[in-house]
Amino acid sequence: MTSLQIHSEHSSKTPIALGANFSLYTRLIRTPGEVEEETVRRYLQDQLQAARCLTANLPIGLADLPGWVAHNSQAVAERYRTYLEGRRAGEGRKFFTNKAHALYFLQHVAPSKLVDGAWLYGTTQHVDDWRYRGLIRTYLEELGDGEPALNHVLLFRNLLTEHDCAPHAPLDDALYLQGAIQLALGRLSDDFLPEMLGYNLGYEQLPLHLLVTAFELNELGIDPYYFTLHVTIDNASSGHALKAVEAVLNFLPNDETKAAFLERLRAGYLLNDLGKNSTDVIRSFELEQELVAMLETKSAFGQHMHSDYCRLEGRTINQWLATPGQSRQLLAALENRGWIKRHQDPRDSRFWQLVEGPGAAMFGVFNGYEKQLLKDWIAGDWQGEAANPFRNRFPRRDSRVSPNPLSPALLSASVEELIALMGPDSHPTPEGLAATRIYSQRLSQGSLTS
Ligand SMILES: [Fe+2]
Ligand SMILES: [Fe+2]
Repeated sequence: MTSLQIHSEHSSKTPIALGANFSLYTRLIRTPGEVEEETVRRYLQDQLQAARCLTANLPIGLADLPGWVAHNSQAVAERYRTYLEGRRAGEGRKFFTNKAHALYFLQHVAPSKLVDGAWLYGTTQHVDDWRYRGLIRTYLEELGDGEPALNHVLLFRNLLTEHDCAPHAPLDDALYLQGAIQLALGRLSDDFLPEMLGYNLGYEQLPLHLLVTAFELNELGIDPYYFTLHVTIDNASSGHALKAVEAVLNFLPNDETKAAFLERLRAGYLLNDLGKNSTDVIRSFELEQELVAMLETKSAFGQHMHSDYCRLEGRTINQWLATPGQSRQLLAALENRGWIKRHQDPRDSRFWQLVEGPGAAMFGVFNGYEKQLLKDWIAGDWQGEAANPFRNRFPRRDSRVSPNPLSPALLSASVEELIALMGPDSHPTPEGLAATRIYSQRLSQGSLTS
């Protein structure tokens, strides 16, 4: 996996109190109006201090930035070609060991994907300044220009719903760091403009892991559209990556303030390397460990739910579940007693039949992700029918649906009122989407002024 890694690992360097990322993230997404500016500022300053200790691979003085971006994207394309050659030659997947692993990935990157684009929110207030145009366009594209089928946050939310794998309990705090940074930059982008430009420049480069993720998700029967969409939309020749470069050049001073500006931009760029990135998440999965942890959480709820007729190795199921830390032994007992037959089709296991299928006694006990953990653990080395990884399982149909007609009240809304509805906390709602459509239409007609 190391050869596919493109971001350096710096997760352990972030000096923050436990829960600080989750706390700020949740408050900025749920009740942004109640979060004081000073809190957001201090958070960003702390993160920037950590980021400044890292090394950036940006060209010195930002010379030939477009060439640097083009070179990066060519290098990624080249490495992806090598990956595909390997797959064509019969090599296995590089990221996801099984479908549960892929769902784990979706669940654990959810905090940042569910605020996709948030760092650009503040740019929407600068419609009269041409230097912001590319950034505003990028933000609107993240929001799908108000089209629900193209709104990145909604697309990711739907993906989680479809596979029933959304996180229900708070995840590791480090997983909220990127999302919190994005929301914080969106809130204070005027004060942290060079940092926001640098962050945007780093974020919008096409990473190799996006390509590999999309390929392997499709292979595992998970619609990769959210990821393939970013391959096209973030491209270096006309997409978000190019707009990121242009934005930097629009704002780059030519006087004695240039050095300080570059220093701040560099720190913002490095914010991308804090916390846990996609490859960290992919690497942190261990099937049996996740299954056991999940069963432990379930035990607390299930310990009074079983009839005392159910006995396993002399103990009732309720007794098994009443003692914390027994899940691994419980699995072994189920295996010993023939309720679970590992390394073969899970449908052959009686225990699996209790979980899934018509009239299953434990129907609804496990969500989609939890069931997949169990299923993949039972299946083990059993592969089922060999499938062609190159087959496109999700051919695109035009998924645009005409949104509802716009309400007259919104049509006459001021630009400030529209912007208020286009924040990361509200843009995926029907009102937010409608406001985004109007803002976007007025912008393209040249009738949007503040
Ligand atoms: Fe996006
Ligand atoms: Fe983008």
